[in-house]
Order: sequence, then structure tokens, then C-alpha cells
Amino acid sequence: MHLAAFLNAGPMGTSGWRHPDANPGFLTAGYYRHVAKLLEAARFDLAFIPDALSVPRSLGGSFAPAVQWGSGTPRLDPLVILGVMAGVTEHIGLAATLSTGYHEPFHLARALATFDHISDGRAGWNIVTSFQNAEAQNFGQPSLPPRDARYARAEEVLSAATQLWDSWDDGVLLQNKETGEFGSPEKVRSVDYRGEYVSTQGPLNVPRSPQGYPLLIQAGASPSGRDFAARWADVIFAAMNHWILPSRFIRR
Ligand SMILES: Cc1cc2nc3c(=O)[nH]c(=O)nc-3n(C[C@H](O)[C@H](O)[C@H](O)COP(=O)(O)O)c2cc1C
Repeated sequence: MHLAAFLNAGPMGTSGWRHPDANPGFLTAGYYRHVAKLLEAARFDLAFIPDALSVPRSLGGSFAPAVQWGSGTPRLDPLVILGVMAGVTEHIGLAATLSTGYHEPFHLARALATFDHISDGRAGWNIVTSFQNAEAQNFGQPSLPPRDARYARAEEVLSAATQLWDSWDDGVLLQNKETGEFGSPEKVRSVDYRGEYVSTQGPLNVPRSPQGYPLLIQAGASPSGRDFAARWADVIFAAMNHWILPSRFIRR
């Protein structure tokens, strides 16, 4: 059996913060260090932090209910939090949600390669295309693009990011203090990726990380989401609600 913990980089759950024993310190590093040590001692395989790039406006178009009742907000930057958790653990896998909709592949590839290095090969990426209008509006778009366009962009982002991760072979760094040779340029190459949504020249400015690619996680449920997950993911999050199954699969 493998155990994965679904955490928040903020209050835990919509009402978990009200529990009499709940620690209110989610803005402090000590809070996440404590959670990380607990999970590692309990032999968890993975700590996962979901994310969204907005204060939700899903209730009546206003962010006020989210702030008033602590629903989906605040959300701290998950990779920063995972960096803190990596510093006090050795074994547990550490995964964060990062959106393909509002980041460039160079940013994503660089941040995740950096995190894979500093965690000694424990980085995971939950690849999402994001689903809130408020997220699109935080990045200059009038509303959420249609799902097929979101997954078409995600496909390009993954193609570009994997090529950036592959732009350094293993063993580039020589750091030869005698000769002054720092690295082997023949083991690094350009990417020159040109897509409809994203383009990047490369190479990445971070050497190949211990895992090569981070663990790739995806949770697509629509036909395009499931196709994408099947192509790219090492781990698939599946929320199998009975109402999306044909009736012959439902036991009454
Ligand atoms: C366990 C789980 C975790 C998820 N985490 C996030 C997340 O952190 N951020 C996000 O925008 N979407 C998240 N999603 C939503 C999925 O990325 C996806 O959009 C959703 O399952 C619907 O599938 P579709 O994109 O194919 O329509 C999560 C879904 C599941 C089941």
C-alpha cells in the first residue's frame, strides 16, 4: 500500500481550521516542517499540495465569501512550501500543482528541475490546466479558455518542458579547478521548440536533475483530460464518482 497526503499550503480543508486542536500557523515555516516530519515518520510516500491561482469567486462572483469563511484561500506558493518540507525530510515524495495555463514551459521546467535537485530526486508535478475564470482574469484573459484549448496548450507545454529537461545530458559539470573547465558544452543542446501556444529556444539553465523529469501526476476526467493523462502521467488521480459511471457499473 502507498500513502499520499493531500495537504494545503494554507488552512487545511474548508473547515479543518476550526478544529479545537488546529494549528493556526499556516503562514510559518515551522508549521510545514512539523507536518513534513509527521508524514515522514508515518512512512507516507507522498505529500501533495494542490493549487489555484486566484482567490475563488465561485460564490456569486465575489471573493468575499472565500475570505470570510476560509474556503480555498489563502494559498501560499506550493513549491516554496515543499522546499521547506524537503529540508527536514529524506524519503517522502513532494509534489505540487502547477498550471500549464499561466506559466511558460521554461519557468516550469526550471522550477521543477531546481526542486528535484534540492530534494535529491523527490519532486512531483501535478499538471493542471486550471478551471476558474478568476485564474484567467489574474493573467490578463477575459475568461477561462475552452477545455480543448487548455489541453492543447498543456500538450505543448509538456513537449517543451520535457525537451528542456532533456537539453542537458548527465555529467555536464566538470568543475575542474586545475584546468578551469567548468562544464562540457557538447553535452548541452538547444531545444528550438515552436508551438502555437508556447515557444522556447533552450537549453535550460539548470543541469539535468536526479530523476530527469519530476514524477508527473495528472487528474484529467474529460475525454481530452484522460487522453492527456494517459500520454504523460506516471500517476493518475481519479475521482470516480458513481454518477459519471454508466449504470451497469453501479451496484445498488
Ligand atoms: C485528486 C485531485 C486533485 C486535483 N488538484 C487540482 C489542483 O490542485 N488544481 C486544479 O486546478 N485542479 C485540480 N484538480 C482538477 C483536475 O486537474 C481536472 O481539471 C479535473 O479532474 C477535471 O478534469 P478535466 O480537466 O479533464 O475536465 C484535481 C483533481 C483531482 C481528482
